[in-house]
Amino acid sequence: MWDTFGLQKNPFDIKAVETYGIIPTSTFIGRDAYRGDLKRMIQTRDHSLSLVVGEKGIGKTSLGNVVRSDLSGAYFISLSEIDTQSTWSSSDFIFNSLCNLYETAAMAGTYAALPKKYLDACKSINAELKPLFEDESSSIGVQAAGFGFEKGSGKGLTTHATAFLKLKTKRIVEIISQAGYSGIIFQFNNLDNIEDERRLSRVLADLRDFLLTDKCHFIFLGNKTMESCFKSNSKINECISCEIQLGPLAYYEIKAILAKRYDAFKIPGRSPLAPVHDDALDVVYGLFEGNIRQIFYALDMAAVNSQKVIGRTEQLRAPAIKSILFTLAKERINSELQPRAFDVLLYALRKKGEITNTEITRKLKLKAQNTSKYLGQLKANNLIVAMNREGRNIYYKTVNEARWLLLAPEKGKQKTLEYDGVF
Ligand SMILES: Nc1ncnc2c1ncn2[C@@H]1O[C@H](COP(=O)(O)OP(=O)(O)O)[C@@H](O)[C@H]1O
Ligand SMILES: [Mg+2]
Repeated sequence: MWDTFGLQKNPFDIKAVETYGIIPTSTFIGRDAYRGDLKRMIQTRDHSLSLVVGEKGIGKTSLGNVVRSDLSGAYFISLSEIDTQSTWSSSDFIFNSLCNLYETAAMAGTYAALPKKYLDACKSINAELKPLFEDESSSIGVQAAGFGFEKGSGKGLTTHATAFLKLKTKRIVEIISQAGYSGIIFQFNNLDNIEDERRLSRVLADLRDFLLTDKCHFIFLGNKTMESCFKSNSKINECISCEIQLGPLAYYEIKAILAKRYDAFKIPGRSPLAPVHDDALDVVYGLFEGNIRQIFYALDMAAVNSQKVIGRTEQLRAPAIKSILFTLAKERINSELQPRAFDVLLYALRKKGEITNTEITRKLKLKAQNTSKYLGQLKANNLIVAMNREGRNIYYKTVNEARWLLLAPEKGKQKTLEYDGVF
């Protein structure tokens, strides 16, 4: 359907900008000061540790990717970032750093545009690491056998094996230096996947000497919890060279990003038409307070479902986008939702989407058993999901689509924000 608008593909794709990815780095906008800070931090130090802190979907991965891309002439950058897994121990971080390099080295040949300097470095890295991953008689191979190209788990590695991996990292640093690079940049995404703060703090403390490896630059991405784990341990805290708190992009910046994407994705010879009008973007921008991933997701869903909900595919204006998103959210509700359950939902939406059962009981003056009942109804209707539990507190968060219910149609002059039996 994107061709209706003169576009080759979805301009609202929620993937991060990436050098060799679907969303080109040329569509990256803003964050100039942070981009400069991160770059300078790496360029002026022998090794560094940078934190990029912000909520999901705010643009952390894209910032990290664009900085790595900016520095790719002088620094060795792997072809993909490293995605932190919830179960990781400190040896997993080291193990996956090497996996990431090995994967890159093995795949580099399949990319046409890579410079010779890079390909030469990859060849040597491949030669150095291949026996480690593929020869079962190597000291790591025995334990990591079968991982091959996959990002595996370093769990169960002995201290001896971990020390060996650290040595290998130093060897790779020598290799890339010989190839003419000033250092390596490792980017770990989603540190918040490790939810247990105590465990994450311990893992980071164990990683300290690895993080200080000469010519290795680490960028860690995650939320406030990750930040406090770095800071709770003075030995790790003192290693941090740069810390960036990423807030929402401005409305005009998101408009500029979309203009860049329309241009990058246009069908040659045609002039693209924006699938959403500025006033529709304005509605969604306000609803998600500038969270770009949630904004793009809503725009995508509205555009894709336009035919189904309002019977036509056309550039969406504010009233149409409200009606489509509200209808889609309402369609999720498949069993009876009591009015008080709806009040709980409104409360959660106002609290930026996160609540606990005990807070609901207290603030809405409910009986604990009724709170559970209403939360159960909201869960059954796919409007909230349970997250972690801490003692008596169970944390819940609203799904993105639940917020679309706030786009309820206006009745006369009054907006039907309070539950009125409509859904
Ligand atoms: N500064 C930016 N310029 C252009 N696009 C961006 C920018 N920041 C984020 N995006 C886009 O917004 C979406 C979410 O960004 P992402 O980097 O994945 O967020 P996070 O890693 O914080 O969850 C992606 O589609 C990405 O391409
Ligand atoms: Mg990310």
